[in-house]
Amino acid sequence: MQTNEIPVITIDGPSASGKGTIAQLVAKKLGFHYLDSGALYRLIALKALQSHANIEDQTLLAHFARNLNASFEDETVSLDGRVVTNEIRSEQCGILASQIAAYPPVREALTERQRAFRQPPGLVTDGRDMGSVIFPDAILKIFLTASAEIRAQRRHKQLIEKGIDANIADLLQDIQKRDDRDSNRSIAPLQQGMDARLLDTTSLTISEAQDTVLSWYNEIFAKNRV
Ligand code: DC
Repeated sequence: MQTNEIPVITIDGPSASGKGTIAQLVAKKLGFHYLDSGALYRLIALKALQSHANIEDQTLLAHFARNLNASFEDETVSLDGRVVTNEIRSEQCGILASQIAAYPPVREALTERQRAFRQPPGLVTDGRDMGSVIFPDAILKIFLTASAEIRAQRRHKQLIEKGIDANIADLLQDIQKRDDRDSNRSIAPLQQGMDARLLDTTSLTISEAQDTVLSWYNEIFAKNRV
């Protein structure tokens, strides 16, 4: 199978929209590989924090991106041989990742690394620019969103379940700030592409959202077979 024949489903959308959960479920259901592109930006953020790097130093951050010693196995993420699955999920890493993600040399350094995840039998990936920049020829592109208030509530529930203290008003403010930064940057901004289908999960369950993605994929797959 040629690389460009390997089907890719891209799920882009704002922070805490549930795109990671849905993408993982769909990947499992189809037996496809999964790429959480946000984790790469979060790993660079963690590396920068660990090295007390200057967050404005784009050259150094791009160097971290190019030489990122990271591995993804099932749901475990490691950096330099150490498990950092939960650490990269912190609000601190998320906010820093969003800042770092606005730097063109960092995005460029990650491009090929992300494309290498396109392996048979297929890939489901989530992020901000998966459909627009990294996999422009994806078979199905989705823009998955939900209202900022619902996203803050979901985030709050998730953190409380993990035993992490959180406040909905603060989370809502962080989400709105991150949306603003991710949507208004000059390179690969977060936006719904003309060729992406909108999936608003404000009033959908996880299972309903997953079924919608699978039905869209099956519809396209059936059409391509005729
Ligand atoms: O999806 P996430 O919240 O884990 O991503 C963390 C940050 O990384 C997000 O605020 C913006 C950035 N990001 C990006 O710019 N492009 C991607 N494809 C994925 C994430």
